[in-house]
Amino acid sequence: MKRLLYLVILINALNASANPRIDAHQKAQDALSKLTFTKDGRGMVLAPDFVKTYEMMAKFLGLSHTDRPKINENPLKALAPFKSRWGLIDHDNEIKGFFNVPYKNMQIGAMGCIVCHSGKVAGNYYIGLGNKNVDVGQMATDAKLAQEMWHNMTVLMPRSAEKKELEKDSFAFFSRLADKRYNNLTQGLVPISMIQVWFYENVGGRPLPLNNARGQVKVPSFWGYGKKKSIGQFSDGFGDGNFAGWGLAVEFAGTQTAQNILSMIPEITHAEELLGDILPPKYPFAIKSELVPHGEKIFVETCASCHGTYQKDSAGLSVFKEPEHIPIEEINTDRNRLVSVNQEFFDLVDRNPMGQVVRRTGLTPGYFAPRLEAIWARFAYLHNASVPTISALLTEPSKRPVVWSLIDAGERSRFDEVNLGYTLPAAGSAEEKDLLEKAKSGHRNVYYTKRVGQSAIGHWFKSFEKLTAQDKKDLIEYLKTL
Ligand code: HEC
Ligand code: HEC
Repeated sequence: MKRLLYLVILINALNASANPRIDAHQKAQDALSKLTFTKDGRGMVLAPDFVKTYEMMAKFLGLSHTDRPKINENPLKALAPFKSRWGLIDHDNEIKGFFNVPYKNMQIGAMGCIVCHSGKVAGNYYIGLGNKNVDVGQMATDAKLAQEMWHNMTVLMPRSAEKKELEKDSFAFFSRLADKRYNNLTQGLVPISMIQVWFYENVGGRPLPLNNARGQVKVPSFWGYGKKKSIGQFSDGFGDGNFAGWGLAVEFAGTQTAQNILSMIPEITHAEELLGDILPPKYPFAIKSELVPHGEKIFVETCASCHGTYQKDSAGLSVFKEPEHIPIEEINTDRNRLVSVNQEFFDLVDRNPMGQVVRRTGLTPGYFAPRLEAIWARFAYLHNASVPTISALLTEPSKRPVVWSLIDAGERSRFDEVNLGYTLPAAGSAEEKDLLEKAKSGHRNVYYTKRVGQSAIGHWFKSFEKLTAQDKKDLIEYLKTL
C-alpha cells in the first residue's frame, strides 16, 4: 500500500515537471494521427467493401502477400502488399492513416491526414513530417481498376441505394486522382491540380482547363505552422491561414460538398490550432559541435536574410517565427506550382460558397523561404523536392544531381549524414546509368529532374559562390542543430 502511495507521488511529480510544450506536442500528435474528415459518406472515401477489393487487386497484380489477412480481418494489414507501390508508411505493424468509418450500416474505408502528413526519415517515424513516398496517382489508378473489376463481378448482387451512391462517389474520387493529365508523375509529390478541379467543376461549372499545370509539391512539415499560417498557407502562401477552410483542401478532391465542409469548420479550426504545437524532431546522430559556431556565422551572413535567425527556449525547444515570402523573380526555382494559381483560378476561389473560410491572401507569386527547424529530416529540398541533399542545394543548379532512387526513402540506409539528405549513386556508376534508364521510362520511384515541374533550378545566389568546401561542411553541421 505504502509503495503504491510512493508510486502515485512519483508519477505526480513527474507530470508536474513535464514541459507544457512537450505535453501539447504529444496531444497534437495523437489528435493528428486520428484525423479524418469523412462526413455523410463523402470525403476521401475509399469504396465500401474496401478489403475485398484489395484482396482481389493483390491477386490480380500477382503481388506477394505472405501476411495477407482473411476478409474482415484488420483492413490495415490488407494494404501491406501495396506499401511500396503506393508509398504508404508501415510503422508499429500497421499502415498509417487508413480508417474504417461506420456509415448507415456499412463500413467505409477512409483516408486520414497522416497518410501524407506523417513520415519516416533515417528509420524513425514522425507525425507531422511529410511522407516522402506517398503516390496518390498510383493508388487511385489501382483502386479505380479494382473497383471496376469488383463492380463487374458483382453486378448482379443487390445493392442498397446508399451503397450505390457511395460506390459512385469513391469512383469519382479515384477517377479524379487517376487522371493522367493532372496527377503526380513521381512518388512523394502531390499535385495541387486535384484540388483545383473542385473549384472549376463546382464553382465554375466547367472542367479543369486542359493546359492546367500539375503543380506537384512535396508534403510540408507542420512544425512552426502556427506562425506561418498568419502570413499564408502552402508553399506559395496562396491560402489565407487565418481562416481554417483550406485545412480541408484535400477533402475537396474527395467528393465533398461545400455544406459538409462548412459544418466541419469548428473541428478543423481546432485541429489547425493543434498543428502549431508540433515540435521539430531533434537530429538523431552525433553533431560535430566544434564546427557549429563557424557554420552559424556563415548562415547569418549568407542565409539569414531570407531564412531568419533561430533561438531556443529555456528547455531547449525551438522558438517559432514567421517565415519570409520571396518573389519568384528573386528565388527562380521551378515555376510550375505557381502557374496554375492564376487570375482564372482566383476568380473561382473568390466566388466559392465557403468564401468566409476558404480565402486567398493576394501575395505576389513566389515561395516561402521555409523556416529551417529539423531541415535534416525534410529532404528532398525545395517545394518540388528536386534537390536530394543540402550539399547539392549549395551547388550551382547545372551541377545538381539529375536522378536518384526513392526506394526506402525513410530508412536508415538511405540517410547521408555528410551531405544531409538522400544517399546517391556515385557519378558515372552502373547504378546511376540504371536509374537514368528507369527515370526515362517513367518509373515513379525514381526522381528525375527532367520531368515537368521537377526541375532543380534556382535558389542560387552570388553569395553562395564564395563559400569554401569547409564553409559548407560547417554550415551543414549548424543546420543539424536547428
Ligand atoms: C494526399 C496527401 C495529403 C493529405 C491526405 C493531406 N494533405 Fe495537407 N498538404 C498536402 C500537401 C502536398 C500540402 C502542400 C501544398 C502546397 O504547398 O501547395 C499540404 C498542406 C497542408 C497545410 C498547409 C501547411 C503549410 O505549411 O502551409 C495544412 C494546414 C494541411 N495540409 C492540413 C491537412 C489536414 C488537416 C489533412 C487531413 C484532413 C491533410 N492536410 C491531408 C498533402 C496532403
Ligand atoms: C534570397 C532569399 C534566400 C536566401 C539568401 C537563401 N534562401 Fe534558402 N530558400 C529560399 C526560398 C524562397 C526557398 C523555397 C524555394 C522553393 O521551395 O522553391 C528556400 C529553400 C531552402 C531550403 C529547402 C527548404 C525545404 O523545406 O525544402 C533550404 C534547406 C534552404 N533554403 C537553405 C538555405 C541556406 C543554407 C542558405 C544559405 C547558404 C539559403 N537557403 C539562402 C530563399 C533563400
